[in-house]
This record gives sequence, structure tokens and C-alpha cells, in this order.
Amino acid sequence: MKAELPFNGPIGVFDSGYGGLTILREIRRRLPQFDYLYLGDNARAPYGPRSFDVVYRFTLQAVNYLFAQGCPLVILACNTASAKALRTIQQTDLPQIDGTRRVLGVIRPTVEKVGELSRNGVVGVLGTNGTVRSRSYDMEIAKLFPDFITVAQECPMLVPLVENDEAEGGGADFFVKKYVDALMTKNPDVDTVLLACTHYPLLYDKIRRFVPENAIVVKQGEIVAESLADYLERHPEIAERCTRGGLCSYRTTESPDAFTKLARIFLGEPVKVSHVELA
Ligand code: DGL
Repeated sequence: MKAELPFNGPIGVFDSGYGGLTILREIRRRLPQFDYLYLGDNARAPYGPRSFDVVYRFTLQAVNYLFAQGCPLVILACNTASAKALRTIQQTDLPQIDGTRRVLGVIRPTVEKVGELSRNGVVGVLGTNGTVRSRSYDMEIAKLFPDFITVAQECPMLVPLVENDEAEGGGADFFVKKYVDALMTKNPDVDTVLLACTHYPLLYDKIRRFVPENAIVVKQGEIVAESLADYLERHPEIAERCTRGGLCSYRTTESPDAFTKLARIFLGEPVKVSHVELA
């Protein structure tokens, strides 16, 4: 017999590791009244190079864990998980687990905003190998804005650079320039560069420096936060189930020590975290 899930609870925020903290920070800034439970699957990150099946399986485990903690709503604050797992979870798993709960991703709200921002409809996407190869952004942009042209560039070195605290170093300059140049060579008319990875806001200044001046560089955090605020307003039946106390707890599949050290890079403040096993 299936165990009863708690009816009310915090908003769950899931990422493969630390990157989702950049999204969580903006969500908490925009919606400070709610409680949050952040889960990072650090022991199995990065998800970027992993196959569809594996990312889907890991993400579903994370969603089940967050539901078991009572989360009525889970945000997949990870582009790779949103690209590779969200649709199947929404369409196949959710109705079986609990059709009254919701799982939302970061791709749709970001694409909606990019559609407003781009002046000439030529969008450049920077992301992990997994996100770029899934073509999720290309497909979502084509669906919402059929006249747009999307070019994408894989940036496999950027996540490791950030996670090794090298975002400020010369190595990061080298790789950011390399990837931005590669993107702009694919289509020099790109007027909007989308940072389609949770880690890239930490490289924003460098990316901005190498992207041509007339193009805009778009971070996701604020967009996702705004879209969540709008969602909760339109869905009071979900909002009512999200507890309000302004609290935030953290869980990781890695050791708490490792998480605490690196989380500081992303949040700018220390956090207390506990270990969980996902299965
Ligand atoms: N959070 C991932 C994303 O936004 C980046 C890290 C990873 O590859 O796991 O795509």
C-alpha cells in the first residue's frame, strides 16, 4: 500500500548539484514568504553528460523524495533535468504518483521571456552537452516562436570551472571566449544569448564581456522566479498547500561538508545541510 504523502509542505527545488542555488536565491528574493526544501544530487552530478534514461531515473527519485517530504510543488531548477526528464514525469509519472501535485521546469518560462526580449528573433543558447544535445530549447523556441532562429553551443568546461572556484580565473576567460566565439560564428546575428545552465550566472561578467555589445545576455533566475510567482497566483489550490514561514532547508546526496563549502560560492552565505540517499 502506498504511504500517504503529507498534504502541505515547502516548495521543493531540485538540481543535480549546486547550480540550482542560483535559481533558489532569486525565487526566495521574489517569494520570501514561502518555505523551501532544496535538494542537490551532488553525489551523482554533473547530469550534463548523462543519458536521457539516467537523468530521468535520477530526477524521478528526487521528485519522489521531495513529495514524500510534503512538497506540493517541485521546481526542477536544472536545465538538464528539465530537458531530459520533465515531460515524462509530468505526463506519465505524476498522474500515478499524485495528480494534485505539480512539477515545473525552467525551460518554458525562460523561452517565453526570450521571445519578448529578442528584437530580430535570432537566439543563441549556451548550455551543457546534455541540454544542447536534447535540443529542448530549439524545440520550445520553435513551438512558441516559429519564425525564430536558434543556435546553440555546448560549453562542457564551464560547470567544472565554477565548481572548482575558478570562475574568476584566466582559464574561465579562455573557455568563455572560446564558446562565445563558436556561438557567434554559427550565426553572427544572434541578438540574445541565453545562459541555459544554472552555473553560468556566476560567469555572467565574463560572458557579457565576450558577447558583442549589441546582444543581450539573459540569466534565468529572475525569469523563473517571476514565472513561479505568476503560477502561484493563477493556481491558488497549489499556493494554499505551500507552507509559509520563510524557512529554507537543504539536502544533498553528497557529504554535508563538501556541500557547505561549495554552496557558499553560489549563495554567498553558509548553509546547514543534511545528507539523504535517493532510491
Ligand atoms: N544544473 C545543470 C544545468 O542547469 C548543470 C550541472 C550539471 O550538468 O549537472 O544544466
